[in-house]
Amino acid sequence: MRNPIVGISLKMYQNRIDAARAFAHGIVEEVGEETKIEQFMCPGMGVIYSVAMILKESRIGLGVQNIAPTVNGALTGEFSVESLRDMRGSYAEIGHIERRTIFSETDELINQKVRVALKNDITPVLCIGEVIKTDDYAEIKDLMKKQLFLDLFQINGEEAARVILAYEPAWAVGKTSAASAVHVHQVHRLIREAVTELYDQQTAEKIRIIYGGSVSPENTPLIVSDENVDGVFVGRFGHDPKRYASIVEIVKKAKERA
Ligand code: PGA
Repeated sequence: MRNPIVGISLKMYQNRIDAARAFAHGIVEEVGEETKIEQFMCPGMGVIYSVAMILKESRIGLGVQNIAPTVNGALTGEFSVESLRDMRGSYAEIGHIERRTIFSETDELINQKVRVALKNDITPVLCIGEVIKTDDYAEIKDLMKKQLFLDLFQINGEEAARVILAYEPAWAVGKTSAASAVHVHQVHRLIREAVTELYDQQTAEKIRIIYGGSVSPENTPLIVSDENVDGVFVGRFGHDPKRYASIVEIVKKAKERA
């Protein structure tokens, strides 16, 4: 049995301390005591500390949207897992499509970050997904397997099982609608197959795969109705505590039924 999980990223939308604190207070009030669904929130870099002070009183974990590939040293402008740990954070989003494209992050760099996270007891939320929309599922599977091979290079099965995979097709991120539930279900199954082939069945059964890309309370019920979907990674359409909380409730109901 895998624990269902819901994460939310504020990207760079709520940069004012007051706004970010209000949002964090809002979700803590709505679903801060939820025990059945694991949750994490990734605030923008400038407001991490302020949000951390609010989340620490709740069951919602603190995450960051990016970490440096090493713990400490001459990396101007980067964010260290040391700071994250100090703020009692435990999740790090790695390899988001915006970082891969706008900041030219390579799979090699992403792999270093995943390793740094694992070594420091931080759960990596590794984002993978195809860039161009296609229904050629053999091609998508090859692509997912290649990304997993490169991003999880030299990471053993036990460590890989601790990673959360976020399937985020670039063509559905920041758009008006999410990928169809049928597509998500198909690709999550293929990702699990790829993990079996790269590692083994045990690892594939343990690893959690969540979907991200224009997730909303409206499209979540169908998306999470498949056993291979362990939760969702929410962006813009959850930037309101009540809407975010309704997504958590939907995932909880769906997984209770399963
Ligand atoms: P979006 O972002 O829901 O705003 O598309 C999702 C993500 O980037 O994880």
